[in-house]
Amino acid sequence: MAVLGIDIGGSGIKGNLVDPFTGNLESDRYKIATPQPSTPDAVADVIVEMIDHFEYRGPVGCTFPAIVRRGVTLSAANVDESWIGTNAEQVFEKHSPGNDFTMLNDADAAGIAEVEFGAAKDRKGVVIMITFGTGIGSGLFVDGTLVPNTELGHLHYEDHAPVEDWAAAKVKKEEGLSWKEWAERAGVYLNHLDRLFSPDLFVFGGGVSRRWKRIGPNLGLDAEIVPAQFENEAGIVGAAMAATRR
Ligand code: BGC
Repeated sequence: MAVLGIDIGGSGIKGNLVDPFTGNLESDRYKIATPQPSTPDAVADVIVEMIDHFEYRGPVGCTFPAIVRRGVTLSAANVDESWIGTNAEQVFEKHSPGNDFTMLNDADAAGIAEVEFGAAKDRKGVVIMITFGTGIGSGLFVDGTLVPNTELGHLHYEDHAPVEDWAAAKVKKEEGLSWKEWAERAGVYLNHLDRLFSPDLFVFGGGVSRRWKRIGPNLGLDAEIVPAQFENEAGIVGAAMAATRR
């Protein structure tokens, strides 16, 4: 059985068929640029294109870079503001009758995959997944159970409000930081989270997790931290799993 997982981001929308019982990717990835402005209807059209590409019928899991409570998107840090208060699952189901949609926060989805099959497999206690990208996303797990919609990238740290404007991966490029400089900054943020939550394990995620060899040793962290095993695909895998569980 393969389930369609879709990762909706501020610049790209990516889809893959996923075996939700192993976490394996069962297709080549298909990517479409995020329409601008990224309104719910415009994104729904892309979702339909994605579903047609895979000739797919069945449950669909979608990640979204914002707070999502019971299918309703409640924030919009890097997407069009008109998402706020929209029942995204209903919008998608209207555009694509016959498919059931499950929408969840992108970092929560990534964490679901890492906790079940990846870097935090079989780990008890408090696990915090942090994804570094355009923003900073977080997924908090207690003995494998997700506490959804933590927004730890929106903490205010010293005069950095929100802290993602200072420590997200995109800031590396914007400010021309070296890997070492950026990793030290990310480490300051992670140490702050460690003081607040004392997690048993951090999982370091997002596209930059591929550069772990340069980043890991420069974080300066006392807490245990491991790079995401699914790298940037974790969200797609977790979304397919969430759609299946529902
Ligand atoms: C959003 C989060 C999201 C993160 C990563 C933040 O700006 O508020 O909901 O998980 O970016 O995309």
